[in-house]
Amino acid sequence: MSAGTPLLQVDDIVVDYRPRRGRTGGPPAVDHVSLDIPRGRTLGLVGQSGCGKSSLARVIAGLAAPTGGTIRLGGAELPAPRGRTDATRIQMVFQDPGSALNPMHTVRRTLTELLLVHRRAAGRSAATDRAVELLELVGLGAAVLDARPRGLSGGQRQRVGIARALAVEPEVLIADEAVSALDVSVQAAVLNTLRDLGARLDLTMLFISHDLAVTRYVADEVAVMHRGRIVERGLPDDVLRNPRHEYTRSLVAATPRMDGPALSAPEEARPV
Ligand SMILES: Nc1ncnc2c1ncn2[C@@H]1O[C@H](COP(=O)(O)OP(=O)(O)OP(=O)(O)O)[C@@H](O)[C@H]1O
Ligand SMILES: [Mg+2]
Repeated sequence: MSAGTPLLQVDDIVVDYRPRRGRTGGPPAVDHVSLDIPRGRTLGLVGQSGCGKSSLARVIAGLAAPTGGTIRLGGAELPAPRGRTDATRIQMVFQDPGSALNPMHTVRRTLTELLLVHRRAAGRSAATDRAVELLELVGLGAAVLDARPRGLSGGQRQRVGIARALAVEPEVLIADEAVSALDVSVQAAVLNTLRDLGARLDLTMLFISHDLAVTRYVADEVAVMHRGRIVERGLPDDVLRNPRHEYTRSLVAATPRMDGPALSAPEEARPV
């Protein structure tokens, strides 16, 4: 891969849920989207509910096949989901951490099984050590090893979800509304963790949110999505101060208190 090539390159992606014969009228859910993310950078993807963010994310992560377009990782085109031999390279963190965590399994079991299956640890004891390391990385610790999801707070569950995504050492992390379901103060703490992880692990991230303020907090750049298309992309502060697209202007106008208490470098006394 030559210097300057973005790690993730998404080119001309279309996701159309309508049956082929019924494709009249409005645009598809994802309407010819292209974007790229340099290694170690975080791109925020922001737009209102239903604009196609998750549809795009699922296709990038290989959880669904696109109607058209290509995705390249490290310069090489990724095959369709069925053909991906290594599904660990792009991982997702979801809005509802419950969806990624088996409610019957302890945190220990969730993490160690994953580590062993994907050969990220040699043996049970090494896997446990690595699980603790991962938990510490996300602001938790060995204390939650034997908890099950329902015994954890929302913020702790989401942190376990992040640890789970990181366990397989992905090249790209996609966070799809990863903090949206959390209380505002908890949101800020988890955002802080994500931002720290991005820097510490040199992670390449696609951070999806309907909330421009939240996006700005973690992203190096933001892309604004509207009705399946990227209508604007730029540095968060530029987009906020000087939105060029009409839709972005309405989004900015609807964004309350950009430097509200929740987003001004919160203190993190203990993980929530
Ligand atoms: N599996 C599916 N089958 C049919 N239509 C779908 C499917 N998934 C999403 N859609 C439709 O595609 C459009 C985009 O949905 P998507 O979930 O990608 O939006 P989103 O930006 O993630 O919204 P939100 O902010 O609410 O999560 C919506 O009109 C949605 O109803
Ligand atoms: Mg969504």
